[in-house]
Amino acid sequence: MRKKIVAGNWKMNNDEIESQRLINSIIEKKLDNNCEVYVSPSFPFLKDAIKLCDKTNIKVLAQNVSHEIEGAFTGDVSCKMLDSLEVKSVIIGHSERRTIFKEDNNMLLNKLKLCFKNNFQVFFCIGEDIDARKSEEQFFVIEDQLNKTVFQLENIDPNKLIIAYEPVWAIGTGLSATPNQAQEMHKFIREKFKNKFSESISEKLSIIYGGSVKPSSAKEIFAQNDVDGGLIGGASLKSNDFADIVNSI
Ligand code: 13P
Repeated sequence: MRKKIVAGNWKMNNDEIESQRLINSIIEKKLDNNCEVYVSPSFPFLKDAIKLCDKTNIKVLAQNVSHEIEGAFTGDVSCKMLDSLEVKSVIIGHSERRTIFKEDNNMLLNKLKLCFKNNFQVFFCIGEDIDARKSEEQFFVIEDQLNKTVFQLENIDPNKLIIAYEPVWAIGTGLSATPNQAQEMHKFIREKFKNKFSESISEKLSIIYGGSVKPSSAKEIFAQNDVDGGLIGGASLKSNDFADIVNSI
């Protein structure tokens, strides 16, 4: 059985008090025990989050990590720093990092290598933009993103890697991929992992969907064979919506 995962990507939202309130409110909800649940406050509030989530089933996820070990990288946060807070899960390759902050495949590959060396769990995001989807090049784009990053690695541990398929055109637009579109792409991704690594790895790999998942759409998307959960943006900022999405798994 593959792990079922629902993670909230809070992005640059919530100050200290708001972050604490949201976590406390999520802790109070009755959440499906079969689902791994993650929250991701911004860096300054990770320590609070770790404390609040201690002795609960909720895990804490960082939204980013540096591609370098340490040194003159103003504003960056390293694996070692996260480790010292006991944060061992990170998001890498989010389309906002790729487009706004110009993180390229080389940098993402460095991040992947550092994270795995430091025994982190990585949520690795891939996804095509609207032009690629319109010109039906989505499979080519996804394969290219994988070839230049994860598939540069000799091996992967499916317990340490989660692939988040997030079509860029679905992020924050209210226009989710249809369950069929998600399933078709997740199946394609799993097939690529099978060809690159092994069937056993591909069968253990959790592939989650992100992009305008709402309580009303989660159930049908999560019901697809190759969809193992979701990476949730806007709807993860409201505890009721987030809990409903978790319980749609
Ligand atoms: P939305 O759920 O707000 O579309 O964001 C998805 C996302 O970017 C998760 O990483």
